[in-house]
Amino acid sequence: MENRIDADEVAPPIARAMVSHDPAYYDHLRRKLRRQLLFAYCAPLTVLAAFFHFQYSSNLRERIHNHIRSLAENQRNTADLFVQERLANIQSAFHPDTLRIPPEDGDTSRVLAELKRASAAFVDVGVFNPEGNLVAYAGPYPELVGKDYRGQMWYPQLNTAERSYVVSDVYLGFRGKPHFIVAVRRSVNGRTWFLRASVDPDRFGEFVGSSAILDGAQAYIVNSSGQSQTASIEGHPELKVGPLPRRTGSTSIADVEIEGKRYLRAIAWLNVNDWALVVQVPADRAYAPLRRTRLALAGMMVVLLAFIIAVVVRSTRKLVGRLETAHQAQRSLTLQLFNAAKLASVGEIAAGVAHEINNPLAIIYEEAALLVDLLDPSFGQTMDPVEFRERLGAIKDASIRGRDITRKLLAFARRHEPESEPVRLEGVVERVLKVKEVDLRTSNIAVRKELTPDLPEIVGNANQLEQVLLNLVNNARDAIGRNGRVTLRTRLENGWAQLEIEDTGKGMTAEVLSKVFFPFFTTKGVGKGTGLGLSISYGIVKSMGGRIEVQSSVGAGTTFTLSFPVPRATPVPAQAAGGA
Ligand SMILES: Nc1ncnc2c1ncn2[C@@H]1O[C@H](COP(=O)(O)OP(=O)(O)O)[C@@H](O)[C@H]1O
Ligand SMILES: [Mg+2]
Repeated sequence: MENRIDADEVAPPIARAMVSHDPAYYDHLRRKLRRQLLFAYCAPLTVLAAFFHFQYSSNLRERIHNHIRSLAENQRNTADLFVQERLANIQSAFHPDTLRIPPEDGDTSRVLAELKRASAAFVDVGVFNPEGNLVAYAGPYPELVGKDYRGQMWYPQLNTAERSYVVSDVYLGFRGKPHFIVAVRRSVNGRTWFLRASVDPDRFGEFVGSSAILDGAQAYIVNSSGQSQTASIEGHPELKVGPLPRRTGSTSIADVEIEGKRYLRAIAWLNVNDWALVVQVPADRAYAPLRRTRLALAGMMVVLLAFIIAVVVRSTRKLVGRLETAHQAQRSLTLQLFNAAKLASVGEIAAGVAHEINNPLAIIYEEAALLVDLLDPSFGQTMDPVEFRERLGAIKDASIRGRDITRKLLAFARRHEPESEPVRLEGVVERVLKVKEVDLRTSNIAVRKELTPDLPEIVGNANQLEQVLLNLVNNARDAIGRNGRVTLRTRLENGWAQLEIEDTGKGMTAEVLSKVFFPFFTTKGVGKGTGLGLSISYGIVKSMGGRIEVQSSVGAGTTFTLSFPVPRATPVPAQAAGGA
């Protein structure tokens, strides 16, 4: 049964600590954390604030509308009352006890005086005979006497209306001065006479708009076509209302825009006639409370957000700082572990090396002993200088071999700070095989090389990679014991440079396979294995951005596949390429 794993899936986190992080990593982490925390804190707060703001301001807006509406209704009632009172005044004046028909001298003057006592808004008073002529008059326009009023707008209204009174719109009339009239009729001997009084709209306007209702507000009366009855709109375009919508029982309220300025306008219909009372307030005044709450909310949000930002920035900086120190500590620990493991693997190869050093030492011993004998005078041998030279040469060669071996071992054991450089996998394979040659040959293990020529260089640390491969070869040898084959392969696969080592050893069960990358996991006897080789190797490969995959079947063998990213060739600038 074949088992197959990807080291990333089974390796414990400690083995990954070899990966070093550059300062940009922590910057990135800090920024990301900050962004996420800020979002997590601020988003709900903003949503909540927006929700409450919306709720509260629609509430407040409604309260403001209600306020303006009730203001308009109050003023409407006042205006209604005013007109009704004027009607009542003139109705009681047109009583047979007060005014004889036809009127006699002084009657109208008396009536006018009485009306003026009731309200200073009365301007004049006149009596019309059934033919529509003004027959008696008191007031500032005596020249009106004798005029025929049948053509005046109010006259036919009163003559035919089922109502017993008329209140006209403001108009100029014969006198050429704005006024409106209140008129009532009375039947004398089957014929209809009229009493009419004119009212000064300015006085009415003062009355309506007088009780200072709200700072900046305007209250005025308009007729059904929207013409102002009480306020002069000359120089006040904002007071123009335009045709009113159909009369309704309720007071309407609306935001309007006039010449770029916004107003809140309430319209309440009068009961006595087709007039409406308008209350108009500049929007900035009307909605001032709204603006104040908005400002308060915005201020609060700014303070809150500033606080949150400060806390988040501070805590992420602290947190990431701690993480950085922890990573550094972990990394230095792993480096120590790494070095310990390296020394251990040096121990593992020491046996092979000792064997290799023994050979030249034996040669040196043999040759030197022979020379000593040759030079002994008691043997009486004469020394051939050529032979003498040959023997010394053999000693020299053997010493050089010994020195090379110890040098190689020393070079391997030297503590290296891992630095990245371009590495050729083929070179790594050759160097490791040189160290392991004798050892493998002694165990009768054949080595097959299937190296792809011109494999692109990878970025890593050659010394560390040698350590990795050495450990894999040692593991293969241990798994084989005696008599077998180790195959070393390099190839390019989907843009990854791969180094593969296949053995014909005893293989691993799924259970063993799932633990091989754990530090100190070993199936070898005491003094033989440390259990550090694969975990360290994994850390090293990981730190170079690589991956490890293992395939193993019990009794058949194991294949470790290391994959390394191939850096994309930096494009040669066209200039440099074409130059020289
Ligand atoms: N090529 C292999 N064939 C069979 N088993 C292996 C092979 N490589 C590693 N192992 C198993 O993985 C274990 C851990 O290996 P390693 O981490 O190198 O530590 P060590 O070699 O010191 O035991 C070994 O003890 C062995 O059981
Ligand atoms: Mg090992």
